[in-house]
Amino acid sequence: MDKKVIVVGGASGVGAACVRSLAKEGAAVVSLDRSEEQGLGVAEQAGQRFLTCDVTDRDQVFSVIDEAADLLGGVDSLVHAAGILLQGPAEDVNDEDWARVMDINARGPMLTNQAALPHLKKGDRSSIANFASSSALTAYPNGAAYAASKGAVTAWTRTIAVEWARYGIRANVIHPSARTAMLEDHLAKMNDEELAAYKELLLQKVPLGGEFGDPDRDIAPVITFLVSDGARFMTGQNIAVNGGYYI
Ligand SMILES: NC(=O)c1ccc[n+]([C@@H]2O[C@H](COP(=O)([O-])OP(=O)(O)OC[C@H]3O[C@@H](n4cnc5c(N)ncnc54)[C@H](O)[C@@H]3O)[C@@H](O)[C@H]2O)c1
Repeated sequence: MDKKVIVVGGASGVGAACVRSLAKEGAAVVSLDRSEEQGLGVAEQAGQRFLTCDVTDRDQVFSVIDEAADLLGGVDSLVHAAGILLQGPAEDVNDEDWARVMDINARGPMLTNQAALPHLKKGDRSSIANFASSSALTAYPNGAAYAASKGAVTAWTRTIAVEWARYGIRANVIHPSARTAMLEDHLAKMNDEELAAYKELLLQKVPLGGEFGDPDRDIAPVITFLVSDGARFMTGQNIAVNGGYYI
């Protein structure tokens, strides 16, 4: 695949899987993440480059994306996977938590998408893929602030798909479910009873296998397709890659 791609959040989980999958298909990738050591390791193993970037720092985002574009000699696609999970009852959400999850999960993609725009405009088949979550589409008890941040990035992506179509840019949003560091942290906070109930829920709710997916085998190939010209007639779509959870 002859594509130049920036992957934001490429140090871990599905972002790291996207770096590997895109590289395997022949794309040139620059991976960005705030986690420097891990990000560098993933990118180097895939034969790609890495730059440190905190997606909440506007100046840094714009300068690092310009630097990535220079390294790649242009940008065809931006994949934004960076995000955090925030759990807790809706009635306890405070201003600080709300601001933090919105800053990383909603303002972050807005900044990276805007910063990539001048570079994406120069191509003729450019694309953006932003990661949201099934919590943007259905109720997510004990995660209302997280769900709101993912609802924001979902709505943002749908609207830029229309506004930026005039520049030949496609924009889609992915709702994954995958066994990653984020999920492991989430499971680690559960007691045995909660864990058993959660596993039972997955068995009932996920027709394909009753569990979370694998970042490399189940999520990254879909992103690689979305970056490819095979997806040239797809934009503004909610793409759930979750084994059928919530259908
Ligand atoms: N794993 C799942 O089942 C699942 C489900 C729904 C949605 N998602 C979404 O998919 C995306 C990837 O999740 P994951 O499971 O791979 O998580 P992960 O924790 O494994 O990876 C997230 C990455 O984002 C980076 N990051 C966080 N804050 C950052 C910041 N301010 N600046 C730069 N980088 C930052 C982290 O360093 C990390 O490398 C996230 O947006 C997440 O909300 C994941």
